[in-house]
Amino acid sequence: MSAPEPKLVLENLSMVFQTGGKEFVALEPADLVVPAGKFISLIGPSGCGKSTLFNIIAGLQAPTTGRVLIDGQDFTGYIGQVGYMLQKDLLLPWRTVLDNVALGMEISGVPLKEARARALPLIIKYGLSGFEHQYPSSLSGGMRQRAALLRTLLVERDVVLLDEPFGALDAQTKSQMQEWLLQIFADFGRTVVFVTHDVEEAVFLSDEIHVMASRPGRVIETLPIDLPRPRDRAVVSTPRFVAMKKYCLDLLHLGEQEAAAA
Ligand SMILES: Nc1ncnc2c1ncn2[C@@H]1O[C@H](COP(=O)(O)OP(=O)(O)OP(=O)(O)O)[C@@H](O)[C@H]1O
Ligand SMILES: [Mg+2]
Repeated sequence: MSAPEPKLVLENLSMVFQTGGKEFVALEPADLVVPAGKFISLIGPSGCGKSTLFNIIAGLQAPTTGRVLIDGQDFTGYIGQVGYMLQKDLLLPWRTVLDNVALGMEISGVPLKEARARALPLIIKYGLSGFEHQYPSSLSGGMRQRAALLRTLLVERDVVLLDEPFGALDAQTKSQMQEWLLQIFADFGRTVVFVTHDVEEAVFLSDEIHVMASRPGRVIETLPIDLPRPRDRAVVSTPRFVAMKKYCLDLLHLGEQEAAAA
């Protein structure tokens, strides 16, 4: 059987910022190949360059070196090629839930009326039924994240970047949202790159995890997660899951010790 086609390829991608006349290496050269339809996570301590990497993939920042390829085509520095849910991606308080979910499509050029028509069935299907004409202030944290995720997914791009979408949620809501996201992932068939600080979340959701370390920001290990899909919560107590989680935690701990010693 041949390997699936790579959807997203990062080649020798690095980022050096000039701050106060000094060079700061936010990201050492990184290579990443994400096959179509896979769910990849990046985990690593604060400041290791995860959001920087996303901004480069999304074309919002130009890398110091390297290229971003989607379906083999060089899109380095081009915006609009991926769906991107920014860290702390907020809903606009003056727009209804429906118009917030429609917003991403509207920005990408879909007329609002059509964007609303496409958004409504998904709002209903994915747990926000009855809230479509409410304003974000009347939603719970989990519901707000659903709306923000739907907004991102409705922009029809094969590659979706999600930067810590569940970081601010309580444990129970987070767990529900992870299962919801797995359902969405199965339904939409997108290629997802996901950032989290939560190792259990990364193992539960992903096909592959890239563990990063800081000072300088870099990928220190890539770990395939070969747990079968569909996954349910029971998997987290299996010996294999526990072993993979521990392995990631040990790597993160090692990275932190090295950074502290540097
Ligand atoms: N425009 C910039 N100019 C200078 N330094 C920057 C700039 N953007 C980011 N940095 C620095 O690059 C490093 C990586 O930042 P980044 O936001 O990518 O980290 P992160 O891994 O997403 O962290 P967190 O987990 O806290 O979100 C940080 O030290 C940050 O201060
Ligand atoms: Mg970040």
